[in-house]
Amino acid sequence: MYDVINSRYTYKGTDIIKNKLGIKDAKKLKQYEKKMVAFKLSTINFVKLPKRFNEKRLKFIHEYLFKDIYDFAGKYRIENIIKENFRFSEYEYIDENLNKIMKEINIKSLKKLSLDEFCIKISYFMTELNVIHPFREGNGRTIREFIRELINECGYDIDFSKIDYKEILQTSKKAILDDKFQIDLLKRSIIKI
Ligand SMILES: Nc1ncnc2c1ncn2[C@@H]1O[C@H](COP(=O)(O)OP(=O)(O)OP(=O)(O)O)[C@@H](O)[C@H]1O
Ligand SMILES: [Mg+2]
Repeated sequence: MYDVINSRYTYKGTDIIKNKLGIKDAKKLKQYEKKMVAFKLSTINFVKLPKRFNEKRLKFIHEYLFKDIYDFAGKYRIENIIKENFRFSEYEYIDENLNKIMKEINIKSLKKLSLDEFCIKISYFMTELNVIHPFREGNGRTIREFIRELINECGYDIDFSKIDYKEILQTSKKAILDDKFQIDLLKRSIIKI
């Protein structure tokens, strides 16, 4: 859980994130969020997204997935967050750090890579985006959708909903120090289209 003491995003004295429905029960909010975001993910292919793979697209995805739930949908967080002792990017540097990593995404050169090399690159982008953790909540799902679209653009496909969530979580945490397990997970899950 985040260090939520004095978080501007939670209801006072709780770790429940302020939401548009005014739900103050953690379990209920989680259930609602899970279903709503899954529905949004199932419809996002019908939506016209920003063309390029950059901050604009990442923000757009977050906004689309979370706009019915949180006021901060599509907006970078304005407080620092820690999970299990890991401190994500200082919020003041989110924009700069994202800009740097997005500039490294080059579809043309990604398309030239072998599947092994491709997975190494994709894993790198996933981890860098996770370390930045641009939003107060919903980073995992937003990043996976962004990555799915990027993979698609390069002629491959991946269905993160079919992968064991525990494995996604564990490999993403380990990836900060060593991403061989995450690369391996990608290799097993990516298919050519
Ligand atoms: N201790 C940690 N260190 C590094 N990254 C972590 C840690 N715990 C979780 N993560 C990453 O953060 C993501 C969760 O972020 P967040 O809760 O903002 O998004 P979410 O969409 O609710 O996540 P998810 O659906 O992935 O649980 C996870 O998918 C994982 O990749
Ligand atoms: Mg979460």
